[in-house]
Amino acid sequence: MTMKRILFSALVLLTAGWSAAATTNEDGSQLWLRLDQVNTTAKITGVKGTAMTELQTYWQGGPVVLKQQKGQTKDSYTIKTQGGKTVVTAANNAGLLYGAYHLLRLQQTGQSCASLNISETPFYDLRILNHWDNPNGTCERGFAGKSIFLNPDPERIKIYGRANASVGINGTVLNNVNASPQALSTESLQNAKTIADQLRPYGIRVYLSINFASPIRLGGLKTADPLDADVISWWKNKVSEIYRIIPDFGGFLVKANSEGEPGPQDFGRTHADGANMLAKVLKPHHGIVMWRAFVYKPQSSDRANQASLEFMPLDGLFADNVIIQIKNGPVDFQPREPYSPLFTSVQKTQTMVEFQLTQEYLGAANHLVYLAPLWQEFFSFVKPASLKAMAGVANIGDDTNWCGHHFAQANWYAFGRTAWNPNLTPKEIAEEWITQTFTNNPQFLATVTQLMLDSREAAVNYMMPLGLHHIFAGNHHYGPEPWYSPRGVRVDWTPPYYHKADSIGLGFNRTLTGSANVKQYPEELCRLYNDINTCPENLLTWFHHVPWNHKMKSGRIFWDELCHKYDDGVHQARHFLALWDAMQPYVDSQRFDEIQRKLRIQARDSEWWRDACLLYFQTFSNRPIPQDVEHPVHNLDEMMRFRINISMYENPESGYNK
Ligand code: GCU
Repeated sequence: MTMKRILFSALVLLTAGWSAAATTNEDGSQLWLRLDQVNTTAKITGVKGTAMTELQTYWQGGPVVLKQQKGQTKDSYTIKTQGGKTVVTAANNAGLLYGAYHLLRLQQTGQSCASLNISETPFYDLRILNHWDNPNGTCERGFAGKSIFLNPDPERIKIYGRANASVGINGTVLNNVNASPQALSTESLQNAKTIADQLRPYGIRVYLSINFASPIRLGGLKTADPLDADVISWWKNKVSEIYRIIPDFGGFLVKANSEGEPGPQDFGRTHADGANMLAKVLKPHHGIVMWRAFVYKPQSSDRANQASLEFMPLDGLFADNVIIQIKNGPVDFQPREPYSPLFTSVQKTQTMVEFQLTQEYLGAANHLVYLAPLWQEFFSFVKPASLKAMAGVANIGDDTNWCGHHFAQANWYAFGRTAWNPNLTPKEIAEEWITQTFTNNPQFLATVTQLMLDSREAAVNYMMPLGLHHIFAGNHHYGPEPWYSPRGVRVDWTPPYYHKADSIGLGFNRTLTGSANVKQYPEELCRLYNDINTCPENLLTWFHHVPWNHKMKSGRIFWDELCHKYDDGVHQARHFLALWDAMQPYVDSQRFDEIQRKLRIQARDSEWWRDACLLYFQTFSNRPIPQDVEHPVHNLDEMMRFRINISMYENPESGYNK
């Protein structure tokens, strides 16, 4: 710490009466669980278990009684102040644990615990993380280092368990949906058992992604046809082996006939045939199948249509321990998409939503993008009660701060809290997280909450405003490359397939005169989206090929509006940096500096996005960039020459750096 900084911190301490914690460096490794250890053994009585240990270690308040009581719903709990004691009651250990964390959250956020009368029940029974971790330790679309599950470090796994339990997450899929058949080898199962044993005390069950061709590739059979007797018996034996090793194993997550992964269609069977075969084998063990609906075909003229085409004819044919796991949008975790129409069209099959916490399409671990507003937007269209469960693709790795960016921890936190209660607002969740992770200083809380709440819309603005989508670089999904379309690459993996820029306008015609994707939505929405004059402008180029001179609500023509949106995004990103700079007195210098560095990258990247996209689209619109918009500081050639060479397993060290 420099002399200047010491003096400055001392001044802050004196003037604000501020606690010394703000100047003690932190590395983020404790996540939001920055609790001081105390010894309160005598004060905690009742049911022994993790709830008791956690309270004995961290609870600073009065006596607590932990009581088990039949009759309450699984995982729910009550907390009541009775005769000077705090009584936590639940039907199972997990419920007691969630109650204990509720108390610790109240303590950590400085709320009174004097007179409590709380009753909580999780909205979803299954609140599950999906890790896209590979056997070699890489994480697909992982931006926070290597897998925490390869050679698991018991101390880290313990923090992982505590962090998940503190927000109610009760399941984890240990491996990538692009699953290696080896995931089911006896050796891998032993590793899964080690992790399962460590997570069990925190109420977390483990699940595995499977490769549908495992009977061939692991078992040496000639086929993986789900109706073949040998295949069925192979799965039966494998599942029995799994349950011998991990008695409370949760079940399988399956990516089938998608992006080259094997599936039942390879044998002339349907998704339902494949899912039901596995479901039947798992049923006696109470296991479930989460069967993904993320499917699309190179020959499809509109990728957004594909999942409904494949799954709607099967509605009602799935077994009752199958849940169809659907990404929130019909394409792929874009900064903004409409909801996937499957959520409202599937009527007779259980469904669950898959959100992506890892920021594959949102600036990886370099950009601050708080995702709860995106999820809230989704839930404004899809009733939470219409879903069975919530899954989140994890943003967790072996980086010291777990998620690569201190603020990315907020998305892990918010995922758990939202799965517990989708009616919590993004603001409430952000405030809880900020208070626990940083401080409850009112100035900091107000500024940073607003920054977080604005961050998703800012990212949409500087990356893909007005319904644009999938205009990312070919080899990674970090920066812009709207021009990327080399010969021989699947067209639906190239941006022009999605933006369809030409001299007339920009956007994908998904109306009734185009791909008719609008028809997959309920009638009212179909009508709304189909008409360019009623379609929400934030989805305009998603559903329409919008003429450059189309009149927007602001009175501007579409081209000018697009320029303004991109420019707004850049100004927002720069503003975030300025806001953060002013937060220096309230944060330890390590986290302050690390976050500041990331916000600088984000601001520079926002210019990269704006300049690349506007200069490229300008070659079609042939219109000037409006006077009142900051003009690109780079030229298109420069932009097209700039490359970042990263794999899908790493975070770019810095973003745009020219
Ligand atoms: C995206 C992502 C892949 C991932 C796939 C999936 O396409 O880029 O890395 O495997 O989604 O969700 O299955």
